[in-house]
Amino acid sequence: MLVTNDQLLSTATNQGYAVGAFNIHNLETLSAIVAASTKEHSPVIVAVTPSTIDYAGLQYLANIVKIAADSVQTPMALHLDHGKDLTMISRCIDAGFTSVMIDGSHLEPEKNIALTKQAVNLAHSRGVSVEGEIGRLAGVEEATVEEKEAILTEPEAAGEFVSRTGVDALAVALGTSHGAYKFKGKPRLDFERLKAIRREVKVHLVLHGASGVPSWVVEKAVTYGAELSEAQGIPDEHVKKAISLGVVKVNIDTDLRLAFVGAVREILASSPSELDPRKVLGAAKEAMEHVIQGKMQLFGSSGKAL
Ligand code: G3H
Ligand code: 13P
Ligand code: ZN
Repeated sequence: MLVTNDQLLSTATNQGYAVGAFNIHNLETLSAIVAASTKEHSPVIVAVTPSTIDYAGLQYLANIVKIAADSVQTPMALHLDHGKDLTMISRCIDAGFTSVMIDGSHLEPEKNIALTKQAVNLAHSRGVSVEGEIGRLAGVEEATVEEKEAILTEPEAAGEFVSRTGVDALAVALGTSHGAYKFKGKPRLDFERLKAIRREVKVHLVLHGASGVPSWVVEKAVTYGAELSEAQGIPDEHVKKAISLGVVKVNIDTDLRLAFVGAVREILASSPSELDPRKVLGAAKEAMEHVIQGKMQLFGSSGKAL
C-alpha cells in the first residue's frame, strides 16, 4: 500500500526506529526493495532522483512502484529525491508520488526558503509530504556540489528554515557525503550538531549519504575488477547513533550500486557463456536484496509492518 513519508516517519518516531529510503535505478532495484521489505516486514521508502527519471521515464517509474505497492502488505512511500525545481515536483505529484524533496541547498538561504515554501504549498494542497535541505553535503549532489563547498547545518538556521517553510522533514548535513568515498581519514559525524538541531526543530530528520560501503561488498566487486581503492562509508554504529539522536529517515543508494556491480561482475567473469540477462540481473537483484535486509535490521524497521 502506498502512503506518505510523513505517515511512515511519524510512526517510526513514535516507535523509535528509522525507515530506509532506497534509491531505485531500474526494475531490479525495485524488486529487491519489495522482496526485502516483505521478508523483513518492514516499511520502506522508494526514492527516485531526477537522473533516474531521465533514465527510465517518470510514468514507467511511478507505475511500477504503484503496482509494487499494491502487491505488498508492507507500507511503502514513493519519494522524489533531490528534486530541484517546482516543475519536477509538480510532475511527480501528478504521477502519484506521495512525498517529494525540494533540494534548494545549493541556493542562497533566502532563495532556498522561498523555493521550499512554494514546494510545500504545492505539495500540501495535494496531500503530499515535503523534505527540504539546509546545509550542504560534501561530495557530489547531482554533480553540482564539490567537497570544498560542504556546509554543515546550523541548528538555528534549521529552526528558522523549518518554521518559515513548513516542511515535514529536514535533510541535515553532519559530515556525510554521497558516493563511495566519504572520508579520507577516520569517519566522523557531528553528533553534537545533530543534538542541537534536534532541540531546535520538531520535524523528521533525514540522513543523506548514509551508505556503509561494507567491506564484503567492496571486496567482491574488487575481486572481479572494480576499482574502489580508498572507498569508505559510514560505520553501522554511527548510523545507529544518529537514529538514537533523532534521525528517522536514512538514505541509501551507493551500497545498492556496489552490490549490483559486484554481482554483475562476478557472474560475467565466472560464467563467460551466460547470455541470459535475467541470470545476470537476477544475481544483482539478490545481492541488493541482501544489503537492504541488513539495513532494515540496522535501522530497527524490521518487523514493524506486521
Ligand atoms: O543523492 C542521490 C544519489 O546518490 C545521486 O543519485 O546519480 O541518481 O543523481 P543520481
Ligand atoms: P549514499 O551515496 O551514501 O548511498 O547516499 C544516498 C543518498 O543520500 C540519496 O539521497
Ligand atoms: Zn541524498
